[in-house]
Amino acid sequence: MSNAPTALSLSNTTEPTVSSKGRIALAPMEGVVDAGVRQLISEIGGLDFCVTEFMRVTTELQPRRSFMKVCPELVTQSKTSTGTPVHYQLLGSDPELLAAHASKVAWYGAEVVDLNFGCPAKTVNRHKGGAVLLQTPELIHEIVSACSEALKDTNARLTAKMRLGYEDTALVFDNLKAIEEGGATELVVHARTKVEGYKPPAHWEWLAKLREASSIPIIANGEIWSLGDYDKCREISGCVDSMLGRGLLADPYLARRIVDNIEIKPTEADLSAALLIYLRRMQMDHPSKFLLARGKQWLGMMKKGLVPVDTLFDAVKTCQNSDTMFEILEQSAGKERHFIHLLPNE
Ligand SMILES: Cc1cc2nc3c(=O)[nH]c(=O)nc-3n(C[C@H](O)[C@H](O)[C@H](O)COP(=O)(O)O)c2cc1C
Repeated sequence: MSNAPTALSLSNTTEPTVSSKGRIALAPMEGVVDAGVRQLISEIGGLDFCVTEFMRVTTELQPRRSFMKVCPELVTQSKTSTGTPVHYQLLGSDPELLAAHASKVAWYGAEVVDLNFGCPAKTVNRHKGGAVLLQTPELIHEIVSACSEALKDTNARLTAKMRLGYEDTALVFDNLKAIEEGGATELVVHARTKVEGYKPPAHWEWLAKLREASSIPIIANGEIWSLGDYDKCREISGCVDSMLGRGLLADPYLARRIVDNIEIKPTEADLSAALLIYLRRMQMDHPSKFLLARGKQWLGMMKKGLVPVDTLFDAVKTCQNSDTMFEILEQSAGKERHFIHLLPNE
């Protein structure tokens, strides 16, 4: 049987129903969303910007190579090859050191520096970084003010990303104010507290309260897995712009489907084909072990989405080397596909 993929017609593609689409961003995801993922999803389309994994700022100024490792796109005006802007995220708690990193990364070419006030990881929180800072709005204000001051004479602007709180939402407006008054130009809100982790639901109604209280744009984040979720989140939150994390990894075509109003979901073959392009590109300068780990990891994220890939995941899970994984993915990608035309030619 031929392995040549077959394309289905997009008969249920209709004119967009949401009149003015806001911006759609790919969420930063440490250990997952590297430059290769940003590149591929921006090629598929529908994305207005991406954010790097965080650079952890601890005790001393990082060397140039560390900045470049987090964001190789710095050498191309902080854009993917399709021209999608890549924002540079910093995580830490020392205002002066963060400010020094902000000004350095602006010097290297970042147009937007983003501050992380949402990471729930224990190691990060133990060192007073990420979501733990939501308990001290004064420190958040100091950090944002210091970074905004450091960027004053550069072309870069400052943004931030936070959760609704640490244990509860008691300080959410204080944190919003600290970020706004500190000089951030916009704020992504992951609509959950730190203790809620990634457990559904995301509280989109809180985004509406923050938006009403805010003088800067609020970008909605949390639990957008489909076109329906996207519309519902916009309706409940009133936020124009959204940031998509796990949902966009589970379905790399989702941003494009939202923008083009394509209800039809990708097939397993569409997902395999996208994953294969990423892995083949990574193959140039990464060892087999890395490819295997990333392949299993991304498929694991696809499994949490709305396209059933359980059998494929189980087959790849037991692979001991990347060659076997490539064979399985190639066989899968040879089946029926809807979105051949959205992937770059390899
Ligand atoms: C594996 C993983 C890594 C993440 N890394 C980061 C990060 O580096 N910086 C950050 O601000 N948020 C990080 N997040 C949070 C996401 O950006 C996003 O806020 C969260 O997943 C909720 O959005 P979603 O429901 O669309 O996935 C991470 C989330 C996951 C699951």
